Amino acid sequence: MTTLKGKVALVTGGARGIGAAIARCLADQGAAVAISDLDGATARETAASLANGGIGVTADAADEAQMADCVAQAVAKFGGLDIMVNNAGIGANDLESMGFGLPFTNVTERGWDNQVQANLKTTFCGCKVAIPALKARGGGAIINIASIAGRMAMPSIPAYAAAKAGVISLTRSLALELGPDLIRVNAICPGFLWTKSWEVLANLIKGSVPDYANLTPREVFLDVVKKNTPMGREQMPEDIGHLAAFLAGSGAANITGQQIDVDGGILLNVMR
Ligand SMILES: NC(=O)c1ccc[n+]([C@@H]2O[C@H](COP(=O)([O-])OP(=O)(O)OC[C@H]3O[C@@H](n4cnc5c(N)ncnc54)[C@H](O)[C@@H]3O)[C@@H](O)[C@H]2O)c1
Repeated sequence: MTTLKGKVALVTGGARGIGAAIARCLADQGAAVAISDLDGATARETAASLANGGIGVTADAADEAQMADCVAQAVAKFGGLDIMVNNAGIGANDLESMGFGLPFTNVTERGWDNQVQANLKTTFCGCKVAIPALKARGGGAIINIASIAGRMAMPSIPAYAAAKAGVISLTRSLALELGPDLIRVNAICPGFLWTKSWEVLANLIKGSVPDYANLTPREVFLDVVKKNTPMGREQMPEDIGHLAAFLAGSGAANITGQQIDVDGGILLNVMR
């Protein structure tokens, strides 16, 4: 089994959901973990609950200076940085300005900017501030949390999908540039996970699909999962966490520039 003993990781948006599970999986394999989040109080609680005790930092992942400070805090506390996980992102904020489910011309400029800021600029900032610290250690791993939405046509949420496609593209560009520095850069594309983002989305779908009117948001979510996932089951935050821990470790020493779907086969489901 991969061990991450002696390694230091920073996970953005790690207070809850997928990011918290990634932090837990990294810590369970021995890494010292710093968690950054807009919600600093919960980030600190989550960090305190990790196997070897982590640190929680309040920071907006879309702010380069704040992210540079996070890296500095992780380096000051743990002595360096080996693993950067750019997880912070938002699927369902400001659904109205995203023009959810409406023709593309309903996407407002504000909705577009919000999605690019929340899902792509966050990755830009995280990568940029982590690279010097990873180089100082002689190598490392960057793991970007994209989405299956970045790998297929998603007319109901085009701004989110475009931002996540951008994350995948950036992953490939950086993998090529940073290969000689032994910094591996990979993306994980999660499928359907019942986190806060999906709760908001399920409520919205419930309101717009008459068949769902009497279902709870959780039941709506499970029906979407059943209809779209060959394996018929939802993905769990730990599914993403285990892959992130693998990609961070020596077992993945020759894996770079990849986007790996953790989706129960959703993306196989293009022709039926
Ligand atoms: N839930 C899913 O089904 C799903 C599917 C595919 C991809 N993803 C991606 O996984 C990642 C995590 O999503 P989740 O479902 O766990 O969401 P979540 O809403 O449960 O948790 C997101 C966390 O990130 C924090 N955050 C958001 N924007 C931030 C910012 N700018 N700076 C710092 N912290 C920020 C939030 O405070 C929260 O703690 C996101 O990038 C999301 O797009 C989720």
